[in-house]
Amino acid sequence: MYCIVVSAFAVLAVASLTTAVAPPASECQTPPVECCTTLAPADTPVVAMVLKGLGITPVHPDELAGLTCNPINGTIGPGGDASCPTNFQPVCCGQITSQPSGIDVDCVVVDPQA
Ligand SMILES: *[C@@H]1O[C@H](CO)[C@@H](O)[C@H](O)[C@H]1NC(C)=O
Repeated sequence: MYCIVVSAFAVLAVASLTTAVAPPASECQTPPVECCTTLAPADTPVVAMVLKGLGITPVHPDELAGLTCNPINGTIGPGGDASCPTNFQPVCCGQITSQPSGIDVDCVVVDPQA
């Protein structure tokens, strides 16, 4: 029982840390900030395989690859009203590909209103 509780808290700690460290969207060096659905590290085997098949080479394989990415609506930054639809995450991606499926890579989750 002790182990289960400790594991659960470890997961929560990681989850909240991830939220806390999301950098401000206003500092994204490679606009536009985008909203993507499925995000997974580009070095996840199945993701790496798909990217390779499409000829996409991430510069930072440890960062995220996103699916169905579209430019965020609204104004990003402090006081802005930018937000992503449910099930989409705001990200800043180093490479925005022109794939029809909206696959972007070198992505990090950002805080759209910061
Ligand atoms: C932005 O707004 C347009 C028009 O309402 C919508 O079609 C599109 O999905 C929105 N994009 C995002 C990322 O929310």
